[in-house]
Amino acid sequence: MNIEKDFVMKNEDIIYFDNAATTFKPISVINKEMEYLTKYTANSHRGDYNISFKVDDEIDESRYLVSKYINSKSKDEIIFTSNTTDSMNLVINGFFGEYLREDDEVILTKSEHASNILPWLVLSKKIGFKIKYAPLDKEGKLSLESIKKTITRNTKAISIAHVTNVIGDIRDIKTITKYAHKKGILVLIDGAQSVPHIKTDVQDLDIDFLAFSAHKMCGPTGLGILYGKYELLKYMKPFKYGGGMNEIYNENTIELDDIPYRFEAGTPNVSAIIAFSETIKYLNKIGIENIERTEKYLKHYLIKELKTIPYIKIYNENSEGSIVLINIDGIESGDLGLYLNTKNICVRSGKHCVKMLEEEAEFKDTVRISLYFYNSYEEIDKLILALKDFDNIKKYVNL
Ligand code: ALA
Repeated sequence: MNIEKDFVMKNEDIIYFDNAATTFKPISVINKEMEYLTKYTANSHRGDYNISFKVDDEIDESRYLVSKYINSKSKDEIIFTSNTTDSMNLVINGFFGEYLREDDEVILTKSEHASNILPWLVLSKKIGFKIKYAPLDKEGKLSLESIKKTITRNTKAISIAHVTNVIGDIRDIKTITKYAHKKGILVLIDGAQSVPHIKTDVQDLDIDFLAFSAHKMCGPTGLGILYGKYELLKYMKPFKYGGGMNEIYNENTIELDDIPYRFEAGTPNVSAIIAFSETIKYLNKIGIENIERTEKYLKHYLIKELKTIPYIKIYNENSEGSIVLINIDGIESGDLGLYLNTKNICVRSGKHCVKMLEEEAEFKDTVRISLYFYNSYEEIDKLILALKDFDNIKKYVNL
């Protein structure tokens, strides 16, 4: 394992701290995608020839590796979609759209990503169920107590991120699902920011549905995953209809293909799915415990160094994830982000697709530094150096 060699993007003259948005891909993943594109391009489930059989086998292998990675009972519980948003829309509409009734209630929080709020808002307008937001504490964190207080006899679902993409707090999913299941409540987890960073065992956590993206965990773009317990997937309706998802159809009836294929209408993102198996192999080689540990050390160092700069405000020092939110008083977060860009440092600023959080949090816009295991102490030092140059910052933002 050699980070500099494995990640060719690390050789570019940039320092990348926007890993909550997307991540670099190891060369093995890039090579695999390239190999498919140059040596055995074919569609899946269709051809009667060797390269098409190979594609089917490799898609199957990828599904198996993903299943093992999150420890699902069966690979049939793994559905390939195009991203976390697509996975969320599929399960919210395809399952909960059938399951929920007018008098029901769904619990979210205001620190959920837009993809875990907007599909619910649209569906609730159609069905009439109520959305309730479990209150967050002063630091923007969610406690079991808050969920308990928000639950009523009518609560049918809780839909929350395991790790939030702004504050980066890690929720105690195991305790939450245990409590929810006792009350007959189903739990949908947005795993976009958790699966890449922390161990996610869907059986141990007893998660009903889990959505995540390949590209945020060193995998290809355009590929999302929806995990669902098989017993629940039996009741989910496809969100898309077309080729590859039906057994037979005529004007009056559509006989669906087996689970999970019935949820994967149309040509899938074959090159991404095939290359994703290399991602899983790579992450397995590093080990999720090592990823967690490395990020913890990096974050600890980053916060320690940021604290040496008196004008930097840190908002989420006590969050457990690998995200750090900062600002400088009197400077727009967007301007600070653009200043860092002049030093080839990549961060994200603004609301990070979470536009209701400001109703509860003490901040509106922030500069987000999001780490991954391939970041280094030297990169953090360069960020700190850039932030310490207050004269230059002031000059840049015309202060
Ligand atoms: N959801 C991604 C982020 O937080 C895009 O940056």
